[in-house]
Amino acid sequence: MLWSGLLLLCLHNVAAAWEHTDDDLMTFKTLPDVRAVKFDIEHLDRDRAAPGYWFVSPYLHFAPDGPTSAFEPFQVGPHIYDQDGRLVWTGSIMFDNHNVFDFRGINSFGNETHISMIQQFPFNDDHRGYGLVMNPNFEIIRKVALRGDLGLFDIHEFNVLDTGKSALVTTYTTQEISLEEYNRPDEKTQLEVGGFAELDLTTAQVLHEWKSYNQISLAETVHYSPLSRVEEDPGWDYVHINSVDKNSAGDYLLSMRFTNTLYMVSGADGHIMWRLNGRRNGEFDQDFIFSKQHDAKFLHSEGTHHIISLLNNASDEEFNDESVSSALVIEIETSTTPMTARAIRRYKRPDEDLTRLRGNAQVLPNKNMFACWSQGGYISEFTEDGELVMSARFTSPRFSNYRAYKNEFVGRPTLPPDMVASVHGTDETNLVTSIWVSWNGATEVATWSFYARKSQFDNPVFIGNVTKLDFETMFIARGYLDWITAEAIDRNGEALGSSNVHRTDFPDWDAVGWTGFSGELPKPQDPGVLYPSGDGVADENDIDNGPVPSSDGTAKAEVIKATQMLSKAQSAVRNIGGLFALVLLLAMMATVMGAFMLIRGWRVRFYQQVKLEEGLPEEETRLRQSEDD
Ligand SMILES: *[C@@H]1O[C@H](CO)[C@@H](O)[C@H](O)[C@H]1NC(C)=O
Ligand SMILES: *[C@@H]1O[C@H](CO)[C@@H](O)[C@H](O)[C@H]1NC(C)=O
Ligand SMILES: *[C@@H]1O[C@H](CO)[C@@H](O)[C@H](O)[C@H]1NC(C)=O
Repeated sequence: MLWSGLLLLCLHNVAAAWEHTDDDLMTFKTLPDVRAVKFDIEHLDRDRAAPGYWFVSPYLHFAPDGPTSAFEPFQVGPHIYDQDGRLVWTGSIMFDNHNVFDFRGINSFGNETHISMIQQFPFNDDHRGYGLVMNPNFEIIRKVALRGDLGLFDIHEFNVLDTGKSALVTTYTTQEISLEEYNRPDEKTQLEVGGFAELDLTTAQVLHEWKSYNQISLAETVHYSPLSRVEEDPGWDYVHINSVDKNSAGDYLLSMRFTNTLYMVSGADGHIMWRLNGRRNGEFDQDFIFSKQHDAKFLHSEGTHHIISLLNNASDEEFNDESVSSALVIEIETSTTPMTARAIRRYKRPDEDLTRLRGNAQVLPNKNMFACWSQGGYISEFTEDGELVMSARFTSPRFSNYRAYKNEFVGRPTLPPDMVASVHGTDETNLVTSIWVSWNGATEVATWSFYARKSQFDNPVFIGNVTKLDFETMFIARGYLDWITAEAIDRNGEALGSSNVHRTDFPDWDAVGWTGFSGELPKPQDPGVLYPSGDGVADENDIDNGPVPSSDGTAKAEVIKATQMLSKAQSAVRNIGGLFALVLLLAMMATVMGAFMLIRGWRVRFYQQVKLEEGLPEEETRLRQSEDD
């Protein structure tokens, strides 16, 4: 008996070790095709974190993926998480496992937070990409494509302006230029021109457009030189625009990564009003440097005074030699001679590393800074004065995320909650019905109430309720119950919505060893008899409520399980007694420890095998279409 106990213990741990092989993604009974990424989170000061949810759009490959013959669960695309890394909404199914970018909450439509994003053009050129706006019911209410001659819908920016009437997008177009400027008058190359367009969100009409050609010369690029070889379409990506914003005066702020420069462009006539940083620096008296920057946004802009946030990924190119990427808040005054630019806040990447890829910086309503360092989904939140309050990254290094945002949001899905139910037992005395429920995108559910029916046509009988603690909630009811529904209840006790009526799955009773004494296979029972006054069993259920989100929690659960097994084994030992037993006990403890080391070891090795995202500069893999229309 003892040895079989030991064997069991080992088997248990082996099973646990295998479970960990896909520990970096979430699984749900109610959404079996979804494998959402998990976060590893470190909270340093929860009280000072701003309220809100994380809006992230993990991707595996930057270029659109084609279909594969391998089973591919839904894992990339738009996702909303709470601050503990619990899934709130996955849009992976809605967007068929395709990439989206710049996924965020916006406050341009009435008083409720809406959602905007860029739907990337697919591998098969079915469409050329869209800018989308969704309401809190996850319904698409705006969908704009880019005018044909402006190329593919660029993935850097979809900046819905406050009025909700228009949005700014970055554009990439190609044209041929002569290399006179580089003293090679006989040569021509294709040039990728950076620009932006302001689109009417209702008609998709281009309200305003601007291009870098003839405004920004080759002299400003740090990416090409007089020795660079000429290129075919799409050509020299000489400015690489990656963000655009607009102030109330109607002027535009552009960030160009390959000139290390922010440009202010006049809305009236398109001329460049000023340049900050870069090769032609000298316009400003500047007390800081930046390079390869992303996501420059106005925090305040009035007359000659501007406050701007940006993510400075700190280049290793000839101009700068910073070793850490940072989010910056800078203050600009253009009425003085020279004009001045001051760094007023700097938030360094907490792990003191460099953000090689993308990223963004968002100042939250309470002035906290929320930064996305991109690779591995690394995000952090700082208080205004620079105290780090939270850091998190995807458990899986396979995924990245271009921009992450934090927004308050109320989600009210129109689809009903998802549910599965199944019955288990070996005879009439131990039948239980297990129910799992989730409601993709519903933020306001506080508790779930469950109902069963004797038949399709009978009245629902309350069989219990349970607090919602995670994306998916489990409930176990005694008896074989069928025709089940779950009703979502909010904090104030108001019903939010109900699932469809679900039938309960049952096993092959003979195969599971049914030994019922009535000589018949079990049938659904009358819930009115089992639960006469709807006396739910909420309390019993509170313990086992969905998966523990953090990997720490899982490890803790393992320790508890192993300790329980050990104490069971210990009581077995007491019955044998004496020195022999003591030796056995020690051996067993060694086994438990050993098994643990083994699990850890396997886990580590497994992660080493995980394929990392290819290290090439992501932005260079951006596919460009040929100018065929
Ligand atoms: C939002 O506005 C609508 C109509 O203007 C109003 O009925 C609703 O109560 C408001 N909601 C909140 C949360 O203020
Ligand atoms: C900054 O980011 C760009 C891509 O966005 C990358 O090419 C460059 O190498 C990065 N700089 C450093 C120092 O990592
Ligand atoms: C279940 O419902 C009862 C009665 O409405 C309520 O008092 C109790 O707080 C609920 N329990 C949970 C966990 O929601």
